[in-house]
Amino acid sequence: MSEDHTRVQEFFGARAADWDRKFPGDTPAFATAVAEFGLRPGDRVLDAGCGTGRALTPLRAAVGTSGTVIGADLTPQMLAAAQRAGRGAQAALLLADVTRLPLRDGALDAVFAAGLVAHLPDPDANLRELARVVRPGGRLALFHPIGRAALAARQGRELTPQDLRAEHNLGPLLARSGWEMTSYADEDARFLALAVRQS
Ligand SMILES: C[S@@+](CC[C@H](N)C(=O)[O-])C[C@H]1O[C@@H](n2cnc3c(N)ncnc32)[C@H](O)[C@@H]1O
Repeated sequence: MSEDHTRVQEFFGARAADWDRKFPGDTPAFATAVAEFGLRPGDRVLDAGCGTGRALTPLRAAVGTSGTVIGADLTPQMLAAAQRAGRGAQAALLLADVTRLPLRDGALDAVFAAGLVAHLPDPDANLRELARVVRPGGRLALFHPIGRAALAARQGRELTPQDLRAEHNLGPLLARSGWEMTSYADEDARFLALAVRQS
């Protein structure tokens, strides 16, 4: 287990039990983001860094009973909270590192990742790993139920031009990692960047 992973598990493990109570108003933003993602019935989708599984119900609704939904997270307490919330009925919950996924090349149609990117130790390589498991033409959503400026204010930090999710950084980062960014929205109440897997 790397130092980065231990840090992630300690940080989110301590917050898992209260995660959903802390952000009770986020549910509609998840539903809207998944609706914009354009999944189809039968699609195979991974929620990368699923946490307590807040996206799993809308993802299941989008792909239907013929689709596949996998929620993967590194923090056991997050997955335990997802199970307690009944979200294990919507998806296969996987204790896994999304930087080294136990999935074959092109196994998925889409990856949805909420609040994940800032925690990736090597964004270029890690986004490339997400591209590996998605078929050419498949899709990626990088989402946060709060915009960059509001999140920085909440965390008491300044938003700098180096911010990974700034449009001028994220587009090139995605292009280097096998994705083409197709839309970008950074508003007070949400952040949503969509990308398509390049062939
Ligand atoms: C900010 S939380 C977001 C959780 C959930 N997606 C949500 O929006 O409520 C980030 C999550 O990513 C997980 N995570 C961070 N690095 C990861 C990795 N390399 N592999 C799998 N999960 C990871 C953490 O354990 C945590 O649950």
